[in-house]
Amino acid sequence: MKRIVAILLALALVMSCTVAFAAKNEKKNADDMNFEFIIDDDSATGTVNVYHWWTAGGEKDAIESVVAQFGDLYTGIEAKSNAIPGGAGGAMVMKVKVLQQTGKSPEAFQAHPGQEIEPYLQSDLLLKLNAIWEYADLEERALPGLVEMCTASDGNHYVVPIGIHKTNIILYNIHLFEELGVEIPDHEDITWDEFWAICDELAAKMPEGTYPLDLGDQKGWPACQVFENIMLGTDPQIYEDFINGNYNVDDVTRVLETYTRLMDYVAPDHNSRDWYHTTGAMVSGTCAMQIMGAWAQPLLTNMDQVYGEDYGVFTFPGTAGWFGMCVDGFVVSNDSADVASGIRWAFSVCTQDVQEYFSGLKESISPYMDTPDDVYNELTLHFKEQLMDEGTKVYPSITHGTAMPWSASTSLQTQIQEYATSTNHDAAYYANRIVNILREAGVKGDWDLVD
Ligand code: BGC
Repeated sequence: MKRIVAILLALALVMSCTVAFAAKNEKKNADDMNFEFIIDDDSATGTVNVYHWWTAGGEKDAIESVVAQFGDLYTGIEAKSNAIPGGAGGAMVMKVKVLQQTGKSPEAFQAHPGQEIEPYLQSDLLLKLNAIWEYADLEERALPGLVEMCTASDGNHYVVPIGIHKTNIILYNIHLFEELGVEIPDHEDITWDEFWAICDELAAKMPEGTYPLDLGDQKGWPACQVFENIMLGTDPQIYEDFINGNYNVDDVTRVLETYTRLMDYVAPDHNSRDWYHTTGAMVSGTCAMQIMGAWAQPLLTNMDQVYGEDYGVFTFPGTAGWFGMCVDGFVVSNDSADVASGIRWAFSVCTQDVQEYFSGLKESISPYMDTPDDVYNELTLHFKEQLMDEGTKVYPSITHGTAMPWSASTSLQTQIQEYATSTNHDAAYYANRIVNILREAGVKGDWDLVD
C-alpha cells in the first residue's frame, strides 16, 4: 500500500512539474525577430498586459492616455493596464517576479533604467530592444546623457524611456505661508540656513496638530528619497562614493544627523500616509511642505492647484545646480505569451503622439528632443530648461532604481523608514546598518558625478 501511495505521489509530482513547465512560454531572442515588420504590422492581433505603478491622480490619466493611443495605433491588440499601487515600483516588482516565476510574464512592464533592471538581465528575462532604438532613432532623439543612462551593463538597450522627473525639490503651500506671514524667499535655490529658518518659523506659527513637513512614507521609499536628497545636499562626493559602494560610516552618520534635525519638523504620524496623501495634507494645510519628486505636479493639478498661485517649489537645500534624475520607461519580457505585442507597446511609448499627450498629462519632461515645448506647463518647462542647461549636473536616483540594485535599495528604504519612525534617532547606529546593507548587496558602481 505504502508503495502505491509513493508511486502515486511521485506521479502527481511529475505531472504538476510538467504542467508548470508546459505553462512557461518559449523564450524569444531579439536577434531572431524582425522588429521592423512587427512594429509596422498595424493589423496584428493579440494582447499586451502592461504592469505599472501609476495610480495617483494625474499619473493615472497619463498612462490611460498611452493605453488609448496604443489602441489607435494597433486596433487589433488589446492593451490591458495592470496598476499595482505604491509608487516607485517596489510592489509592482514583487508582483512581476511572481508572474515571471509562474510562467505568466507580462508582455511589458514599467522600469527605471540602470541598476534596477540588472537582476532581470542576469536571469535572462528581458528582450533586447536595440532594434526599437534603431528603428525609432532614439540615440539621435534622446536628451543629452540619457543614452548612457539607458545602456545596460552588457552594452545593450532594454528600456524605452517615456518620461523624466526631477527628484530634488520641495513643494510648499503658498497660501499657508502667506496666512502665517512666513516670508517666501524670492529665489528657488534656498540654502540650508534658509531652509532651517523657514522650518523654525513655520513650527512656531503653525497651529497644534499641523507641521512644517510630512514624509508620507507608509511605503518606505519617500523616507529614502529624503535620505538621498540630504546626502547629495550634504556633499555630492558623499553621494558619488555611496552609490559606487565606497562605504563610509562617518559620512552616512553626517547625513543622518541632518535627517535627525529635519525629523523635528515632521508630523509624528508621517508613516501612516502614502506620498499622495501627504500631497493632499499639504494642500489642506496640515503640513506646509513636502519633499517629493516632480511627479507630485500632476497630482496637484488634479486637485486644481496651480503652480505659482497655490503651490511653489524650492530646490532641495544644498542641491542647487544639480538635477536628480528619475527616468521612467518600459521593458519587454522575452518569455510572455505575446512578445511581439510587448515590442509594439515599447515602441508606442516613444512615438511623438504618445510623447506629446503623456508629457502634458504626467507633467514629465519628454526624453526626446523632438517633443515640442508647448506641451509643457510653466513648471515642467522650467525643469526641462534646467536639465538642458550645460551648467547643470545630473545625478541618478537611489530610490528610483537607477543608482542601486533593488536588493540594496529596498532594504535601504526599510531601514531608513525604520530610522525615521524610531524615537531614537541614533545616527551612528543606523549608519552602520545602512553601510552593511550596501556591503551585503555588493553595491559597486562606476559613477563619476563630481568633477
Ligand atoms: C516614478 C514616477 C512616479 C512616482 C510615484 C516614481 O518611481 O518614476 O513616475 O510618478 O514613482 O508613483
